[in-house]
Amino acid sequence: MSEKIYDVSADWAKRAYVDDAKYREMYAHSVKDPNGFWAEHGKRVGWIKPFTKVENVSYAPGNISIKWFEDGELNVAWNCIDRHLDKRGDQTAIIWEGDDPSESRHITYRQLHDEVCKMANILRTRNVKKGDRVTIYLPMIPEAAYAMLACARIGAIHSVVFGGFSPDSLAQRIKDCDSKVVITADEGLRGGKKVPLKANVDAAIAKTGGVDWVVVVKRTGGKIDMNPTRDLWYHEAAAMVTTDCPCEPMNAEDPLFILYTSGSTGTPKGVLHTSAGYLVFASMTHQYVFDYHDGDIYWCTADVGWVTGHSYILYGPLCNGATTLMFEGVPNYPDNSRFWNVIDKHKVNIFYTAPTAIRALMQSGDDPVKKTSRKSLRLLGSVGEPINPEAWEWYHRVVGDDRCPIVDTWWQTETGGILITPLPGATKLKPGSATRPFFGVVPEIVDAEGKTLDGATEGNLCIAKSWPGQMRTVYGDHARFEQTYFSTYKNKYFTGDGCRRDADGYYWITGRVDDVINVSGHRMGTAEVESSLVAHEAVSEAAVVGYPHDIKGQGIYAYVTLMKGTEPTEALRKELVAWVRKDIGPIASPDLIQFAPGLPKTRSGKIMRRILRKIAEDEPSSLGDTSTLADPAVVDDLVDNRQNKK
Ligand code: PRX
Repeated sequence: MSEKIYDVSADWAKRAYVDDAKYREMYAHSVKDPNGFWAEHGKRVGWIKPFTKVENVSYAPGNISIKWFEDGELNVAWNCIDRHLDKRGDQTAIIWEGDDPSESRHITYRQLHDEVCKMANILRTRNVKKGDRVTIYLPMIPEAAYAMLACARIGAIHSVVFGGFSPDSLAQRIKDCDSKVVITADEGLRGGKKVPLKANVDAAIAKTGGVDWVVVVKRTGGKIDMNPTRDLWYHEAAAMVTTDCPCEPMNAEDPLFILYTSGSTGTPKGVLHTSAGYLVFASMTHQYVFDYHDGDIYWCTADVGWVTGHSYILYGPLCNGATTLMFEGVPNYPDNSRFWNVIDKHKVNIFYTAPTAIRALMQSGDDPVKKTSRKSLRLLGSVGEPINPEAWEWYHRVVGDDRCPIVDTWWQTETGGILITPLPGATKLKPGSATRPFFGVVPEIVDAEGKTLDGATEGNLCIAKSWPGQMRTVYGDHARFEQTYFSTYKNKYFTGDGCRRDADGYYWITGRVDDVINVSGHRMGTAEVESSLVAHEAVSEAAVVGYPHDIKGQGIYAYVTLMKGTEPTEALRKELVAWVRKDIGPIASPDLIQFAPGLPKTRSGKIMRRILRKIAEDEPSSLGDTSTLADPAVVDDLVDNRQNKK
């Protein structure tokens, strides 16, 4: 744990919206008088009908209900586009940088308006109405932004599915929210490799049915099948509609999007976000955390398939009239200088990425960074997983030339926006700490019994009060919402993360305390990987845990018990990895598989994951008490054959 402290520079304290005194004043106001505070900041967005009520929230067992600005009306796409047209019609809204470094485009707010209206009119002519669900399965091309904003414009609820998910995962998500329309591309392009998106959509629909229309964007021109009664080319349909598409007035609490995310049990949950509170929170955090000022070039490297892409490539920046960069490629293509070359090419001022990318790039040394200028950079950000102090220091020293503060932003799909983070003009930095809560956020650290712990301490992280960007429900399953987030500890939101608070009141996220693995900043439920493995005919039982991985943060470690008489061969090991990859997607591929004749179980048959985690972490000497196991002898075999032996 690093205790090095980086002070706020005088320059930063002066130029930023908020210095330390202002942070303390605003934070105090936000928690003492949330209604007054958010009534003021709710005005940052444009309303069709202004709200008169601010917060209306109940965390009471059996009655979880979260509403913000509930009697207001607005349209999110109008806020992200139309309201900027007078002043910024010719300003670049989106800089698109293609996978191939020779390809990039600038899209102005006016062009964005026209493209979004065309996409919205295509949907309207296919009878998509307010409240209908539209699944978006696109690569990182401008049409992904058009599609999301088109849905927002007409009041349809988008569900973006990351292009790396398999046909089965896509099918599950299409079915769960009953989407009648899917928007995709012929193929995606990442690191020079093609991703067969349309073929995946065909396979998904063959499985799930129920889809009336598939809108296909031509990206690579690769050969695909078109179903004449169901599939339409986006460019052909766009040529038949106008650029005039009035915005649907939406209630503050009308849904904006669903985003599926993995939890400790069952299939992925459809996290539901609504319109006004989400937009107020995403845009406000974007402005203050990144200290965004007019004219800044801002780049978040996430994919729009994840919440970071929703809040901090699209909705937050565009609501603020920003110039946001959208990158189709990967950090190491065509070479390891790609990120830094893109920064120089587009004069990026604010750069926001994930620790896993930093660690991977760090491995190839300083040269690929140092041969670029990066003079335009002013601020760096990190998100998705704990950043280890070594990676933090490298990011600061090598990428930022010791001159750019790093905002280590902690948040979740469920939180809609950043909850714990430094503010660059206000917060002294400690490498590895997400530091202090954003306005209106009240973190609590609780012990296993639910007792709130004071002062410097460690335990499970809860959030005591609601904030406008909070998720409202699990789509179609409000009971699961309550069960997952409000039943472990009563009257507070449980994050699923462990956390330490130091003597300065700084928060240090220690990682998930539930059965979720954070692989390269992406959440994967152990239960999902287990059920994929046991679906293979050779597998009788499987248990999956996370283990420390140098680049990915956590890797996936699978213990597999084979059917009687099946040989544990290398070929089978490879086959099982490929099986999960195909079944869920590459991000779920097990890194290590250990064939286990038996798993450690209690006498009542419950798998003792604590033991499996310790073995996967290569810490066989700290297994703790194994005497309560039904068959303590299985542990010896597991320890002897562990796959992560150093
Ligand atoms: O464990 C925390 C980790 O990522 C989880 C949320 O994952 P997801 O919903 O996919 O959203 C990722 C992008 C917001 C959290 O429960 N996490 C996220 N940011 C940080 C983090 N852990 C430590 N430090 C962070 N800055």
